[in-house]
Amino acid sequence: MADAVILPRPTTEGGQPIWQVLTDRRSVRHYGSDPMPLDVLSQLLWSTHGVTGHAGATELRNAPSAGACYPIDVQVVANSVAGLDPGHYRYVADDHTLLPIRKGDVGAEITAAALGQTMCKTASVTLVWTAVIPRTTGRYGDRGRRYIFLDAGHVGQNTYLAATALGYGCCTIGAFDDGAMNEAVGVDGKIEIVVYAASVGPAE
Ligand SMILES: Cc1cc2nc3c(=O)[nH]c(=O)nc-3n(C[C@H](O)[C@H](O)[C@H](O)COP(=O)(O)O)c2cc1C
Repeated sequence: MADAVILPRPTTEGGQPIWQVLTDRRSVRHYGSDPMPLDVLSQLLWSTHGVTGHAGATELRNAPSAGACYPIDVQVVANSVAGLDPGHYRYVADDHTLLPIRKGDVGAEITAAALGQTMCKTASVTLVWTAVIPRTTGRYGDRGRRYIFLDAGHVGQNTYLAATALGYGCCTIGAFDDGAMNEAVGVDGKIEIVVYAASVGPAE
């Protein structure tokens, strides 16, 4: 297993005003070809799922989560990121690193799983959000299943807003074959499932 990739420290200053970002946010499905700098990926991941506080032993994140259970993990499928081999990584929010899972053209597999949506491959990155179901159902029972999808919506919106503020285009993706997508990112489809995804690349 290759070493973890230490991401540049995210910034919490500057950027576009929130009102402008909310006005500008749109789903963008076509991207420029410049590789995404690693600091942009870092900022994006932090905005999506970064640790921003603590409540006792619990780490609190940018996006809210029912009961602070945080069932969602971020899989990063890198297609064109400066300094990063194309492939599948897992974002480790605790220490803001990327754990390499496998190299290769995973973007093509994600495209096939997403019913041929080529933006999964033409984007700099496609984020694939998986949910570890017992994190939420362990506390809330069946009701926790619904919370997982509500949590995912918040994570997706944070990604849209962060990408817009960074001058990048984003499109979230809910249309995919569950089995194929689970397989592409190596989750079992029972305890852990893919719930949502988003492609992000330079706005043209
Ligand atoms: C849950 C969800 C799933 C979506 N799935 C897809 C998708 O699979 N492919 C796609 O091109 N757009 C997808 N979208 C984006 C919507 O098509 C888009 O938000 C809608 O057309 C409104 O356009 P706007 O985001 O530019 O305002 C999805 C959006 C949401 C919220």
